[in-house]
Amino acid sequence: MHELWSERDPRVPPHRRISADGRPTVAELAESIRSHPPASVGLLAIEVLGSRDVVGYCGLVDGRAFPGEPELAFELLRRAWGQGFATEASLAVLDRARSCGHQRVWATVWDWNTASRRVLAKLGFHETGRYEVHPDRGTTLFTSRRL
Ligand SMILES: CC(C)(COP(=O)(O)OP(=O)(O)OC[C@H]1O[C@@H](n2cnc3c(N)ncnc32)[C@H](O)[C@@H]1OP(=O)(O)O)[C@@H](O)C(=O)NCCC(=O)NCCS
Repeated sequence: MHELWSERDPRVPPHRRISADGRPTVAELAESIRSHPPASVGLLAIEVLGSRDVVGYCGLVDGRAFPGEPELAFELLRRAWGQGFATEASLAVLDRARSCGHQRVWATVWDWNTASRRVLAKLGFHETGRYEVHPDRGTTLFTSRRL
């Protein structure tokens, strides 16, 4: 997680990036994960078959889009981009969401995040027309998919 946070795009809000003095530290991130156990599926580590290299996460979080409906989240280390991992992992998570009884999943994405928007389109997410504008960081699009 620390490696992921340190690679984040400068347009990601500062409180979700590693500061110049290295905060949050690995220990602080570990403590934050331990003290916030996931409600249902949670965020799962993406491990590459064979090498067992952990290259990111994918899962469901309690979304802000619609009460009781989860939000898909994924993020990979840069060295693992462009190999279909986000799409493959998301398909597994969506299967799990369906088997847990969820009927709809949301995903929010910055309008400038072309790769993520492409992943969501490949997964069958549709833009809902709902969005939030931040003056500096861009527009957050709300997308959803029925299961
Ligand atoms: C978004 C992200 C998860 C994608 O992971 P990935 O494993 O590389 O995704 P996939 O390989 O499954 O698919 C990426 C798709 O986007 C396309 N793509 C990537 N960069 C692109 C760009 N700059 N312009 C257009 N298309 C792009 C790829 O060609 C591919 O589409 P294709 O299969 O039709 O060729 C990864 O880039 C990432 O971790 N980004 C930072 C965190 C993030 O944005 N998380 C999502 C928040 S909503």
